[in-house]
Amino acid sequence: MTDLHIAFLGLGAMGARMAARLLAQGRVTVYNRTRARAQPLVAAGATWAATPRAAAADADVVISMVTDDEAAAAVWLDPTQGALLGLPPGALAIECSTVTPAFMARLAQAVEAKGALLLGAPVAGSTPQAEAGQLAVLAGGSEAALARARPLLDVLGSAVLVAGPEPAHAAVFKLLVNGLFASQVAVMADLLRAAATAGLAPAHVVALLTRMPVTSPAAAAAAGLMLAGDHAPRFPVDLVVKDLRYASALGPQPVVDAARARFEDAAARGFGGANLTVVHRVPAREG
Ligand SMILES: NC(=O)c1ccc[n+]([C@@H]2O[C@H](COP(=O)([O-])OP(=O)(O)OC[C@H]3O[C@@H](n4cnc5c(N)ncnc54)[C@H](OP(=O)(O)O)[C@@H]3O)[C@@H](O)[C@H]2O)c1
Repeated sequence: MTDLHIAFLGLGAMGARMAARLLAQGRVTVYNRTRARAQPLVAAGATWAATPRAAAADADVVISMVTDDEAAAAVWLDPTQGALLGLPPGALAIECSTVTPAFMARLAQAVEAKGALLLGAPVAGSTPQAEAGQLAVLAGGSEAALARARPLLDVLGSAVLVAGPEPAHAAVFKLLVNGLFASQVAVMADLLRAAATAGLAPAHVVALLTRMPVTSPAAAAAAGLMLAGDHAPRFPVDLVVKDLRYASALGPQPVVDAARARFEDAAARGFGGANLTVVHRVPAREG
């Protein structure tokens, strides 16, 4: 263990797993809005902080992994408790949440005004990858920020893909990745339902599709979960809807918008907390 002081903000499904991996990398201070969720990490050696501001004080690196723009604004920018108020000059801030490019750019400005560096580092992969340190980190920021973050990113992920020199570039790229992924999952769900209606067994169709280059590994994995009826939350529908709304704002994407409508429908039918593969259980609306 080094004497690096890491503050980790946001201990949800992803954040708790990522923070756990960092315990061996230094002294880890954790903050979560709901304190109870921090207990397992505190039991494993992390120190609890009552506010993001307190967590960031003295930190060399502050990492956030929360829901969306609003949550990230709360942990970083709150005028009395935000992490920026505690962030030491020269520290490194890393925003891993899936947020809009506009928020990431605003955060970058605020962090730089404190004399610190921001790396945008949203991740691809879900809870199993977070637990195993097999995420793909989609990075954006200066070479200096990236170089400082690299040892920690290598603990969280198996690949670091650099989207560009600005933190907002990482946010854009993450939304492209999720637009591609979620659209494929929605298409797979609809195709499997259509196959069954047309008299082909979905299991047989999946077995054949997975032997063909048109089927991505992610779509094949999603199809496997659909066949198994396993929709335990990994990447829940509510987060998919949020990401696709953010993605739609990047520019016209009618196909992504159609996929978004499928997930919004699933959420409206009460499946918001289920894995995105649950869209297979939701019949597409006519017309
Ligand atoms: N799940 C996935 O497969 C996956 C994969 C890649 C990326 N992501 C992205 O990773 C981020 C986290 O996802 P997750 O699955 O870990 O979500 P999650 O389990 O729902 O956790 C959300 C976290 O955000 C915190 N939060 C929400 N609103 C807040 C607010 N207003 N102020 C302060 N904290 C707030 C929650 O605190 P409480 O505990 O108090 O509610 C919790 O720590 C999201 O941006 C998501 O899009 C998720």
